[in-house]
Amino acid sequence: MTEALSLEGIDALYGESHVLHGVSFSLNPGRVLALLGRNGAGKTTCMSAIIGFLPPRAGEIRLFGEAIGRLSPETISRKGVGFVPQGRRIFPSLTVQENLAVSRQKRFGVALPWTLERVIDLFPRLKGRLQQAAGSLSGGEQQMLAIGRALMGNPRVLLMDEPSEGLAPLIVAEVGRTLLRLKRKASRFSWSSRTSSWPSTSPTKSSSSTPAGSHSAAVQPRCGTTRP
Ligand SMILES: Nc1ncnc2c1ncn2[C@@H]1O[C@H](COP(=O)(O)OP(=O)(O)O)[C@@H](O)[C@H]1O
Ligand SMILES: [Mg+2]
Repeated sequence: MTEALSLEGIDALYGESHVLHGVSFSLNPGRVLALLGRNGAGKTTCMSAIIGFLPPRAGEIRLFGEAIGRLSPETISRKGVGFVPQGRRIFPSLTVQENLAVSRQKRFGVALPWTLERVIDLFPRLKGRLQQAAGSLSGGEQQMLAIGRALMGNPRVLLMDEPSEGLAPLIVAEVGRTLLRLKRKASRFSWSSRTSSWPSTSPTKSSSSTPAGSHSAAVQPRCGTTRP
């Protein structure tokens, strides 16, 4: 089976500051992968490398077998990598509906494309707020909007950076349940989190990541797949 996403020996640097040292992992279609590590370990940097914000200096990143490591962020997005950034980064002055509309992206061959109606079905809390400025939403609602916005791009792989950060426990549980529903619908996604507190998602299997060196910034993620 072709892996949905694979990283092979990725090195990433900010200028001369070497943050990722030979990071390798892979994600099969329809699976969830959690990247765990302390603050500053390099989880966000890893995502930046995948989405093309920080192109790797060494190694290769593949999306369903196709090398994407040297492509621009917009091309990587068009090829099907969706991203929910840390801190949500919704467009605060646009309405909820406009936030969803701007990220709409068609993808050839998608059996059931994401629409406004499907996103509302997934996150009913957004229904009565479509014409509201997104900046006026609560943190949890903004997180739902950010996930919905990424889904409107019909991603083949969805990356989420710290999706539970700053949310009340009840909202964390609600968003977590939604992600499990998404997974059951055979969506493919992965996320990064500083902790393993996401409900029902404790890693069951450790696999390798190969940070090298003893730099304080070296990434030390434990990668694991979750129960189906
Ligand atoms: N834009 C940047 N320029 C220079 N160094 C950075 C930048 N962003 C992050 N770093 C450094 O890279 C390391 C990894 O950071 P990050 O990927 O944000 O970690 P995490 O997401 O795991 O908390 C940290 O030492 C951080 O200080
Ligand atoms: Mg981070």
